[in-house]
Amino acid sequence: MDSAAPEQVVFDGFAQEHRADPYPRYRALREATPLYRHPVGVHLMTRYHDCAAALQEPKWARADENGFNPFAPEVKREHLPFLWLDPPDHTRLRGLVSKAFTPRMVAGLRPLIQKTVDELLDAALKVGEVDLIESFAYPLPLTVICDMLGVPREDHHLFGGWSTVLARGADPGLLLPPEDLTARARAMQDGKAYFQDLIAQRRAQPRDDLVSALAAVEEHGDLLSESELLNTCVMLLNAGFETTVSLIAHGTLALMRNPDQLALWRVTPDIARYTVEELLRYEPPVQLATRVAQGRLELAGHTFTSGDGIVLLLASANRDGEVFEDPDRLDITRYAGPTPAPAHLSFAKGIHFCLGTALARLEAEIALDALVRRAPRLELATEQLTYLENLSLRRMQALPVHLR
Ligand code: HEM
Repeated sequence: MDSAAPEQVVFDGFAQEHRADPYPRYRALREATPLYRHPVGVHLMTRYHDCAAALQEPKWARADENGFNPFAPEVKREHLPFLWLDPPDHTRLRGLVSKAFTPRMVAGLRPLIQKTVDELLDAALKVGEVDLIESFAYPLPLTVICDMLGVPREDHHLFGGWSTVLARGADPGLLLPPEDLTARARAMQDGKAYFQDLIAQRRAQPRDDLVSALAAVEEHGDLLSESELLNTCVMLLNAGFETTVSLIAHGTLALMRNPDQLALWRVTPDIARYTVEELLRYEPPVQLATRVAQGRLELAGHTFTSGDGIVLLLASANRDGEVFEDPDRLDITRYAGPTPAPAHLSFAKGIHFCLGTALARLEAEIALDALVRRAPRLELATEQLTYLENLSLRRMQALPVHLR
């Protein structure tokens, strides 16, 4: 594609018609300009090196020195989980949560993930033609995150509803209509009220779950306040659920649309890990991240001042031809072998690097590996896919497939 002059590129990638395939838009933008001033007043970064540099620069923060965040000016700091906080609070809270949410805990979830995958696939294969989101990609991460936190089975359905609203609410607040902002605030409130009760129960009778572990952290001194604990629980639910639904659903879709790669997976042992890495690069569940300048900063040849907001288009960075060879091609061997491709940005970088990478990878590996092996005739049932309105946590509403 020829490069267009920056002023000729109109970026309305937030519009419905681009949701199904935003990549040609990202490409046009990336090739035309490293940074695009969006009419709402923030700059979009499109290229890999600029996005990676911003993610690793502490002065590209969540809010400016006065606590102002242009993306969510209405949200009060006390309602923010550590994903949206800067050091020193971010460092303290992330450290505490990391102590409870350990690699050992994640490894211990393997049997539950395998059992859930097997049961869901048994049921779906019996039916033959299913919505893969409803029957597989959605219930798996919901079961896993709820079990990990310690939410009883009979309450899992509540979380699906809240999380869908919160996923929409993950979009920059300045782009959301008032009714979505209200729904987001209500879902947060409901989620916190739920966890308040659950925490009280686990304090009285601790169990082997993350809520009990986090409640114990709080009890030992004043390190984690009650409201920080509640914000953390709601964030873990939200961060760990819709993202993984999207990875499994988009991963399956990408494989069905690239039958040569699907066939290659079926005949290549031990490729699941590398395939998932490539699927993360190719279809990132989190399309963008936002940052705010603390002080004067240079990026992509532009000078920013305190309080300026930038949107890092992670999904565009992952398709940057300066970094990835043949970037629009799905190549499940890209991360295999002695010289793997550079790291994608789907889990971000720097101090906010995703805390749930091990869990997300484990779930996707087990789920997709079982699916491709147990459904040898896996096929897309329709090309007409409708996408949710979400900008950041992008996914289709349903994924109709033939499994037999
Ligand atoms: C495919 C699945 C996932 C993807 C693509 C993903 C992506 C991301 C990204 C891009 C960020 C950084 C956002 C930013 O810097 O603005 C992030 C942060 C985070 N993620 Fe994930 N995530 C996934 C799954 C999970 C899971 C399963 C959990 C936990 C159960 C989780 C927990 C977190 C937490 C706690 C943070 C905040 C880290 C911090 O601010 O220090 N994520 N994730």
